[in-house]
Amino acid sequence: MKQYENVVIFNHPLINHKIAILRDEKTSTKEFRELIEEITMLMTYECLREGVPTSKKQVQTPLELCEQTVVEDNSIAIVPILRAGLGMVSGIQALFPSARVGHIGMYRDEETLEPKEYYCKLPDGIENKLVLLVDPMLATGGSACDAISLLKKKGCTNIRFMAIIGAPEGVSKVAQAHPDVNVYVSTLDRQLNENGYILPGLGDAGDRLFGTK
Ligand code: PRP
Ligand code: URA
Repeated sequence: MKQYENVVIFNHPLINHKIAILRDEKTSTKEFRELIEEITMLMTYECLREGVPTSKKQVQTPLELCEQTVVEDNSIAIVPILRAGLGMVSGIQALFPSARVGHIGMYRDEETLEPKEYYCKLPDGIENKLVLLVDPMLATGGSACDAISLLKKKGCTNIRFMAIIGAPEGVSKVAQAHPDVNVYVSTLDRQLNENGYILPGLGDAGDRLFGTK
């Protein structure tokens, strides 16, 4: 796959270790959910290394008063793409408990693989926040591209997209359609199959997360 300036592929040994367990068809729903949360937490740490709104705060230690840098209150919004993105929310909330959460509902038409939007509820003032859009699977890229376009229509200008597993087709599509959005992917898989599933992938993330199949 071509390299894109706005794409980071983590390939981090700790994350890859957890993804190996995540992929295993024998991994239970409970463990799958926990792994998605843990991986998201690790990804968030990297994704927010730069460009996070901060402010100064006076802190009294037992020894003296000092000035500290803290993440600005109310500066981050989390937006999962339903359903599977929901599994990533708690991993970010563990780090930013006060982050506002919006929801974008999309499903892929099984025939055309085109995303269909069925729900959108975003926090007030989201246009002034750093938006972390999350979905574990970036396959054709249709869902992510449409979700980003929707956020832009609502006025968002600072969007970062995090996916755990990406297919080359999807990563390229999002990177090219939205060069102003930073895309963070834990691991890049080989290809899509004829049904638009990522290979080797992990199957249907929503079904595995919620035990629906
Ligand atoms: C999955 C996944 C992404 C989308 C990725 O959702 O969670 O949202 O497919 O595919 P794309 O990159 O080709 O658009 P799905 O449509 O299966 O809905 P679900 O999460 O409700 O199961
Ligand atoms: N959505 C999934 O949940 N898995 C895939 O492999 C592709 C899209």
